[in-house]
Amino acid sequence: MTKLWHIDSSVLGENSASRKLSAAIVARQQALNPGLEVEYLDLAANPVGHLSPAHIGALFGHPPEDAATLADIARGQGFIDTLFAADIIVIGVPMYNFGLPTQLKAWADRVLVAGKTFKYGPDGVPFGLIPAGKKVYIASTRGGLYGPGSPAAGLEHQESHLLALLGFIGLTDVTIFNADGLAIPDLKAQSIATAEAEIATLAFEPA
Ligand SMILES: Cc1cc2nc3c(=O)[nH]c(=O)nc-3n(C[C@H](O)[C@H](O)[C@H](O)COP(=O)(O)O)c2cc1C
Repeated sequence: MTKLWHIDSSVLGENSASRKLSAAIVARQQALNPGLEVEYLDLAANPVGHLSPAHIGALFGHPPEDAATLADIARGQGFIDTLFAADIIVIGVPMYNFGLPTQLKAWADRVLVAGKTFKYGPDGVPFGLIPAGKKVYIASTRGGLYGPGSPAAGLEHQESHLLALLGFIGLTDVTIFNADGLAIPDLKAQSIATAEAEIATLAFEPA
């Protein structure tokens, strides 16, 4: 059975545009893949904390003794297991202060783990350990305009950062559905409608 992992990171709840678009991607995938198994992770409702010295110690053979850190490490391993098992990954990601929401960055800090999801070859060049063949769909939302040629393009550290993180662990088949200009009243509705129309054209691709 095809498995989809749906991750949201916006803190704007029902008012979130990225949540609306990521849900539309999932709904489209469900229509295309009857029987699709969907797992949902809401990083705002169930946040991941910052890495601590105890986490890093655990990576180097000093297992923590407190229950909270042990549970957190187990949750991080669960994220990696879910990533390996998923055929399709859908991520809702707003731009906050030119970059990723810290909620999503904290998730990435659990998922990019040397020896588990990437490693360095003998030549020192890193490569991802996530098996090929997975598809990633991103619902990206931003208040301003960051496309090529726009005056703020140089401040774009959200989609580019997420693409770098995913590519580093081997997730390179990535499609971005973007709604920019959501803080510009004349653009907002059209921008979301355009992204929704693009999502509606997604065609079936066997996992
Ligand atoms: C804390 C915060 C920081 C933001 N920072 C930026 C920013 O740096 N650039 C930008 O274009 N929009 C920024 N915005 C606007 C959001 O990107 C925009 O509202 C988008 O719709 C948020 O997606 P969401 O509705 O899914 O949360 C910010 C919004 C919030 C709440």
